[in-house]
Amino acid sequence: MAELIFRQLFDTESSTYTYLLADPKTRAGVLIDPVLERVARDLKTLQELDVKLKFILETHVHADHITGADALRAATGAKVGIGAKSGVDCADFLLADGEKLKVDGFEITALSTPGHTAGCTSYFTSGMVFTGDALFIRGTGRTDFQDGSPERLYESIHKKLFLLPNDTFVYPAHDYNGQTRSTILEEKAFNPRAKTSISKDEFIGILKGLKLSDPKKIHEAVPANLKCGRSEAAR
Ligand SMILES: [Fe+2]
Repeated sequence: MAELIFRQLFDTESSTYTYLLADPKTRAGVLIDPVLERVARDLKTLQELDVKLKFILETHVHADHITGADALRAATGAKVGIGAKSGVDCADFLLADGEKLKVDGFEITALSTPGHTAGCTSYFTSGMVFTGDALFIRGTGRTDFQDGSPERLYESIHKKLFLLPNDTFVYPAHDYNGQTRSTILEEKAFNPRAKTSISKDEFIGILKGLKLSDPKKIHEAVPANLKCGRSEAAR
């Protein structure tokens, strides 16, 4: 089939990427990791590109921003999906490791990639992988909250993501340095935390040594995202 419709959208406040994928023929589409404050932009993009939103996928329960999933679901009737171990009960469906989601002319495969959170899931389709906060461009997600585990993140990166074809494009949930995409090969070679020459023990040492402050919105975002971004006031 012809190339997928693809857009990489950005939220400047949380440095979050939202991705739109759609079948060029039937116009059925998917949004990955929408941000609440950007729902109007997303709806406008869908309308302008004549895409009918079928699914909204979350890579994980985010701590730094509130998801636009529930608002988009209400506006479009799209179904919300998230990893089976995410701990949310607001989704329309859960995706287990290896499970495939059919979106008209293309398919998305869920890859369980825990470590940043226990329920993190990456999504692979058509030579692209959406890695959430597991693998960043030249970085990784942190592992110091939401049942994070540097051991598990190492396994997810090295035993799952790095087994994808080398030319697979890597699209993370965030970038803080103006980078937009990478490849599996580049990350194996140049990721300062996760390149293949770094041992598991070194990786764990690096992650445990990070002294990061909590995301500003963590106490607001996590409870809201466990409800797919539904605000208590709106219920
Ligand atoms: Fe995150």
